[in-house]
Amino acid sequence: MSFVERYGPWAIIAGASEGTGRAFARQLAAQGLNCILIARRQAPLEALAATLRADYGVDIVTASIDLARPDAFERIAAAAGDREIGLYISNAGADSNGSFFLDKDIQSWVDLVNRNILTALRCCHYFGGPMRARGHGGILLVGSGACYGSGPNLATYSGAKAFDLCFAEGLWAELAPAGVDVLYLAMSTTDTPALRALLAEKGVPPPANLASPEDVARLGLERLPHGPVQNWGLRDDEAGFGTSSAAQRRARVNMIAEASKSVFGGKKA
Ligand SMILES: NC(=O)c1ccc[n+]([C@@H]2O[C@H](COP(=O)([O-])OP(=O)(O)OC[C@H]3O[C@@H](n4cnc5c(N)ncnc54)[C@H](OP(=O)(O)O)[C@@H]3O)[C@@H](O)[C@H]2O)c1
Repeated sequence: MSFVERYGPWAIIAGASEGTGRAFARQLAAQGLNCILIARRQAPLEALAATLRADYGVDIVTASIDLARPDAFERIAAAAGDREIGLYISNAGADSNGSFFLDKDIQSWVDLVNRNILTALRCCHYFGGPMRARGHGGILLVGSGACYGSGPNLATYSGAKAFDLCFAEGLWAELAPAGVDVLYLAMSTTDTPALRALLAEKGVPPPANLASPEDVARLGLERLPHGPVQNWGLRDDEAGFGTSSAAQRRARVNMIAEASKSVFGGKKA
């Protein structure tokens, strides 16, 4: 199957207006996918949409939606309408708080959980069902090395990223037999406007060797068929900050799939 046949005709990028989300949108449009671009600010979405239409001749829809709001999923589904969604990318997910848990209003953390977990969960269910029925498609959850362990200022963020990691692994095991690809892309520090804004607020200079959003998006799309995990800057068999490499995690998911048949039976997708 060609890329468009496998992941098209429409992709949704949740958090598309800048950084890695923008890079995903550009690379997908360059490959001929129509895109639904979602973020809170409409103006940068519209500007990106105009560029992508002009450069690549694809159809682009924009939708100003706050992914942290309880009605986010319904609004995404409405924006998608009856378009065939072959790829769902959950990109928005950074923590702009950078604070100790108790030093922020609880609503900040609830918003983070809504955006990173609940909205993504609902979208994976809604768009994943038709992908499974069609026998192809892709789900890419943009994650972080913070999924492997937490620390001060990271409690809720790491917790949410760890949820997404395990969720993606299970989903990969369930959907791979049906031809649907699932990938958790564990990023490292990347030169995005959101990171720059956080560093500026904290008075911290940007670290050296920030990854480029274009490289990160390219890696994510290349590795989408080779889930469930890709760690930025590491080969499949390297563990880095994680206690296990991507290859070891894949082997563990497969081992759990076999072992759990004694509980769940051998249901195939
Ligand atoms: N940058 C890094 O160093 C780094 C490191 C590890 C992992 N990551 C992961 O990479 C992903 C992208 O990170 P990022 O640095 O580019 O920052 P980000 O804030 O997660 O993503 C920026 C994009 O998401 C949109 N967005 C943010 N919050 C939103 C919301 N509530 N509703 C709708 N759209 C929202 C932004 O547009 P609007 O502001 O217009 O909504 C923008 O288009 C995240 O999942 C993050 O956890 C980043």
